[in-house]
Amino acid sequence: MDSIVVRGNGPLNGQIPIAGAKNACLTLMPATLLSDEPLTLTNAPRLSDIKTMTELLGSLGAEVTSLQDGKVLAMSSHGLNNDTAHYDIVRKMRASILVLGPMLARQGHAIVSLPGGCAIGARPVDLHLKAFEAMGAELELKDGYVHAKAPAGGLRGGTVDFDFASVGATENAVMAATLAKGTTVLNNAAREPEIVDLVECLRAMGAQIEGEGSPTITIQGVDRLGGATHRVVTDRIELGTYMLAPAICGGEVELLGGRINLLATFCEKLAAAGISVEETKDGLKVSRKNGSIHAVDVTTEPFPGFPTDLQAQMMALLCTAEGTSVLEEKIFENRFMHAPELMRMGASIDVQGGTATVTGVKKLKGAPVMATDLRASVSLILAGLAAEGETRVGRVYHLDRGYEQVVRKLSGVGAHIERVSGE
Ligand code: UD1
Repeated sequence: MDSIVVRGNGPLNGQIPIAGAKNACLTLMPATLLSDEPLTLTNAPRLSDIKTMTELLGSLGAEVTSLQDGKVLAMSSHGLNNDTAHYDIVRKMRASILVLGPMLARQGHAIVSLPGGCAIGARPVDLHLKAFEAMGAELELKDGYVHAKAPAGGLRGGTVDFDFASVGATENAVMAATLAKGTTVLNNAAREPEIVDLVECLRAMGAQIEGEGSPTITIQGVDRLGGATHRVVTDRIELGTYMLAPAICGGEVELLGGRINLLATFCEKLAAAGISVEETKDGLKVSRKNGSIHAVDVTTEPFPGFPTDLQAQMMALLCTAEGTSVLEEKIFENRFMHAPELMRMGASIDVQGGTATVTGVKKLKGAPVMATDLRASVSLILAGLAAEGETRVGRVYHLDRGYEQVVRKLSGVGAHIERVSGE
């Protein structure tokens, strides 16, 4: 099993290109199931989660061809021949549930394994199922699988009031509603940029949708969808992660493809911590020339609030801030698993339920640590850049799910980082 070895670093300088968004791509790929014409995605990230979705779509009879070294995905679902998404693949990745809406809408039936628990919390799919029921689907849970059936004549429009603005449930419901008979209204819908990106792609395929990016999305069902070519939106989480590298080490780094509107709340918190963020022609320039990092309080919230997917990385920054910061995790109940690992590096963190209190220390110390999930793994790399000595991050397969070429991107701006195989 590979590890990543990081050595404490001086200032970072240069440019880092930001890839297309993993979370957008994982919902755009299942959109191919809605049409028998080709859907092509450009600016796709090269990640193991994308390979898992490719495998899942392939198991349903869709074709996914990876072109230009994985940056272009050419997909076609004209030959769908299976209605079952099996546990063997679904268990690897929760986003697999996103095939349920499109399959149900296009074929009228689907059987999808429940994704099951996950290290960062219980993460049920009840909101997804509630939306399909509102469109007339009959659902049965049997042997760990959801068996879903549309009424005779197909799904019909309905009104869905989400109890929580779930990203995945909104995506699944939007996709299903594109082919339903009549109008579907989604209230308290998620507003994330990945939802807006999905709607833009569906619209290019011929869907009639209004209100994306607001809490109410209205979908007028159409008889069929056609093909399209769509560019995947910038990965705002990869962007925020690499913005933290110069914030932690000092220096000045330009993140190519970054925009403030993808991460406005996060940028405000960086400014409060004493980090300069500036929009440029090609992206965002982040610098910390001198001076200390100030403590800031952070609460994770649905978009446009502070993203839960940047909480672990922000904690790495605040470990060496002057003063005490309070981080509140409001999206997932068990998302502080990186805290004990950071404490092995000398951080001072007190976790009580969904609240972590971080008291800044002068310097972190390198240590062997374990990645526990995707975002936790990269927070340990960032902390390693701020530490004295060597940090060895184990279980980096988590990292491969969501960050392409992390060693190349960080060493390109002067970080001391390498991947060591087989240990
Ligand atoms: C997506 C992202 C994930 C990110 C999260 C929140 C993908 C592939 N993943 O996950 O990286 O951390 O948004 O921004 O895009 N919930 C329910 N019932 C449901 C669905 C969700 O109770 O049916 C709860 C969850 O347990 C959680 C909260 O709602 O507490 C948010 O989950 P949701 O927004 O659905 O996240 P995901 O779509 O799973």
